[in-house]
Amino acid sequence: MRIDVVSIFPEYLAPLELSLIGKARQDGLLDLKVHDLRDFTTDRHRTVDDTPYGGGAGMVMKPEPWAQALTAVAAGRSEDAGDARAASDAGAAGPPGSAGKPVLIVPSPAGERFTQATAHELAEEDQLVFACGRYEGIDERVLEWASEHFTVRPMSLGDYVLNGGEVAVLAMVEAIGRLLPGVVGNPESLVEESHSDGLLEYPVYTKPSSWRDRDVPAVLLSGNHGKIAQWRRHEQYRRTAERRPDLLVEFDAGKLPRADRTAFSDLGYDVVDGRLLRRPDA
Ligand code: ADE
Repeated sequence: MRIDVVSIFPEYLAPLELSLIGKARQDGLLDLKVHDLRDFTTDRHRTVDDTPYGGGAGMVMKPEPWAQALTAVAAGRSEDAGDARAASDAGAAGPPGSAGKPVLIVPSPAGERFTQATAHELAEEDQLVFACGRYEGIDERVLEWASEHFTVRPMSLGDYVLNGGEVAVLAMVEAIGRLLPGVVGNPESLVEESHSDGLLEYPVYTKPSSWRDRDVPAVLLSGNHGKIAQWRRHEQYRRTAERRPDLLVEFDAGKLPRADRTAFSDLGYDVVDGRLLRRPDA
């Protein structure tokens, strides 16, 4: 997979050189380049922002540098921003046509919610471009123009406001990158983790079996794999009901074994038409 990140703070993306993502880049599983938006400005001051039309607080990111940068990274496949800039200037880099449009992800609190399902979806793409906005955001016309050449997806990490898109990109690239084949050593660990089946993960324990008067649940020491699997599933239900009941609305309860229905009943949920319904008295 190819990933390009455009930002006015390229140093912010340095953690993408570390750990699993850094290794994936070294191993050639992920071709990730970070570009400085200011390299695509034409004035002496390398200006990327201006005052908002209509007034109001803050500054808005100017369209021209973004158009230059996005055109270059979409077509350039270049080693660095300098090459991308040259490709853009040469006009060789009209963004690619409809076939295999790259996905342009614009982190924004006004975007659609980024979830594990989104991460899986995006992990199937050939090329992702992340456009990190700062200040009050990017001139809206950039997104309109870009939609002719990219599949544009404004994406939010959650209902809170960050100072810019960089931190959101770190999170999204990690979530997507770890799903690429070969990035996580043991692919089994991707199966049994929070959100992989619409539920939160069960609690985990390691040695010693007794620590500060607290014992590991006995079933985990029993060697009975069927019982352990059932206990873990029921812990997932309990945790999800307690911490993220909103997730249970979407949960497919149609084929649950009797013991699992009982577990949900104990948590105050009945199965009705394959869906979980919270009992009013629960
Ligand atoms: N930029 C600012 N806030 C953000 C958020 N919540 N998610 C993604 N990008 C953002």
